[in-house]
Amino acid sequence: MFHTDYPYFSSGSSVMREHFENTANKFLEQELIGSDPFIVELGSNDGIMLRTIAKAGVRHLGVEPSGGVAEHARAQGINVLTEFFEATTAAAVRAEYGPADVVYAANTMCHIPYVDSIFAGLDALLTPGGVFVFEDPYLGEIVERTSFDQIYDEHFYFFSATSVDAMARRFGFELVDVQRLTVHGGEVRYTLARAGARAATPAVAELLAEESVRGLHDRDCLARFAAEVGVVRTELIALLHKLKADGATVVGYGATAKSATVINYCGITPDQVRYVVDTTPAKQHRVTPGAHLPVRPAEAFAAPYPDYALLFAWNHAEEIMAKESEFRAGGGKWILYTPNVRVVD
Ligand code: SAH
Ligand code: TYD
Repeated sequence: MFHTDYPYFSSGSSVMREHFENTANKFLEQELIGSDPFIVELGSNDGIMLRTIAKAGVRHLGVEPSGGVAEHARAQGINVLTEFFEATTAAAVRAEYGPADVVYAANTMCHIPYVDSIFAGLDALLTPGGVFVFEDPYLGEIVERTSFDQIYDEHFYFFSATSVDAMARRFGFELVDVQRLTVHGGEVRYTLARAGARAATPAVAELLAEESVRGLHDRDCLARFAAEVGVVRTELIALLHKLKADGATVVGYGATAKSATVINYCGITPDQVRYVVDTTPAKQHRVTPGAHLPVRPAEAFAAPYPDYALLFAWNHAEEIMAKESEFRAGGGKWILYTPNVRVVD
């Protein structure tokens, strides 16, 4: 999955560019304050976070197996190793650069099945007082928002404070902070330190308690989630059938990884959703996995506007709806399917 042609470029969203600039500045202010600090990012992609670190002149290394996106980062003066992070990579990085004060990973840990090797690598790489900070879609939000389309091939884990707390302990680490994030439909940023190295903030116990009270890890809770997912499918299929029968045109907006789950689970055909528009050149003039909906450049959206747009990139709703205000002004309607199926006009 993670190779030269990996088509996901993080910098396609202005909201995400701002999010990662703020993240980098937070590290610069709070963690990278010793003499000659060093930060390693796993899954640094096109350099969306590290560009701010590089500009500040701080030692850094991106570990990014996907060659195409890594090259994009390198072209901006960012130091990148085109490798998968695991125990042996970490040992090589430590030997060449010395220990890291911060290891960071955004939307990357959820992609990596082999956590044993990752933690062996963290143990080898981090300074005694160093932190491992990672953020990923939050199980609590996936259940709350019925955002079942977070479940797809690349996403191996759906973390919660409870699961990360247990994982950290297993490897001699401790969960010392959690922070809720609004990006990508609701994430949590977890901060891990070596056991006993840092005091945990009250936010950790609060989120653990919240998960326990709502029964997030109980079978009943997940069974309710599954039932709600079934309702979304039934209603989305019904809506698309009706619109087709009415002669309305529908296109998809955002050839997201998430959309592969929705399209295939709901059996959406090119007959119902004519094509999907996306700003990523690597996705354009191809087809979506399985259902083979054509992917067209973003400019195709207005040529001419469809009657309805099914917003597959719903996690960027605010940014996209603002950018595409003319669509709505001309009578176009957005279809959203999380947390429930609805038409926004
Ligand atoms: N951090 C970026 C990119 C997330 S996409 C963001 O939040 O937008 C996930 C990235 O993880 C991809 O670029 C993929 O190539 C990378 N990746 C996958 N397995 C990895 C591993 N074992 N070590 C480091 N990066 C990995
Ligand atoms: P993303 O939200 O990260 O979803 P996933 O992880 O499910 O792939 O990807 C957003 C996709 O939407 C990406 O292919 C780029 C596209 N996009 C647009 O076409 N226009 C936009 O304005 C934005 C913000 C994204």
